[in-house]
Amino acid sequence: QQLFNEVLPLKGKKALVSAGPTYEAIDPVRFIGNHSSGKMGYAIANTLSALGADVVLVSGPTALETPKGVTRVDVTSASDMLNACNAYFELADIIVMSAAVADYTPVEVATQKIKKKENSFQIDLTKTTDILATLGQKKSVKQTLVGFALETNNAIENAKSKLSRKNLDFIVLNTMEDEGAGFAHDTNKVTIISKSGHTSTFPLKDKTEVASDLATIIVEHQQSINS
Ligand code: CTP
Ligand code: CA
Repeated sequence: QQLFNEVLPLKGKKALVSAGPTYEAIDPVRFIGNHSSGKMGYAIANTLSALGADVVLVSGPTALETPKGVTRVDVTSASDMLNACNAYFELADIIVMSAAVADYTPVEVATQKIKKKENSFQIDLTKTTDILATLGQKKSVKQTLVGFALETNNAIENAKSKLSRKNLDFIVLNTMEDEGAGFAHDTNKVTIISKSGHTSTFPLKDKTEVASDLATIIVEHQQSINS
């Protein structure tokens, strides 16, 4: 609820957020997907918008409602998501890639429904383009680029390596060790690591609160860029 004359910290800023899973088609009725609900990304889009940013939410298939004031662009596959993110990247001041993008996609999509025949069946998969890494290569000093990492082992080390490999300003590490964190839950336990190596570990929280914690860090980063 905006007060009269209150200046929102992200007023005039543009944000691009990706959320949800991607579906990689096998044939007209089947796909390879994952359990991402999209809740984290939608919460981030909502928070950035409430702070005054003009937000484009590139969303894979989810059951969620579009947050108020947010422009939603629906996509299905990793390839669609790459195209949409590329289209909005250049104008964005803030980019948060929270989608659970498929790492592999079928080499060929059957045009007809595949019929069952043999007892075993293989599908050839090929690696998708890493959207976040692609954006990282094009990143300017005016942009705040945030990625996520889902790790089960050597979590901090792996997240730091993704942060530098993909040229990010921040990486949000989802810690899977706690009940109630991650996919399909309303809560998340994260560690946010900055480019400079600063690490903040947060307790298990509602995803809307995790979004606020991340937004605070993003606002500070944008203010330091513009000062
Ligand atoms: N990501 C992306 N495009 C892909 C794969 C991942 O943009 N094709 C992004 C995700 O949105 C996330 C970050 O990269 O912000 C890390 O995703 P994650 O799956 O944890 O890492 P990967 O680099 O895919 O490595 P791996 O799955 O092997 O751990
Ligand atoms: Ca992955």
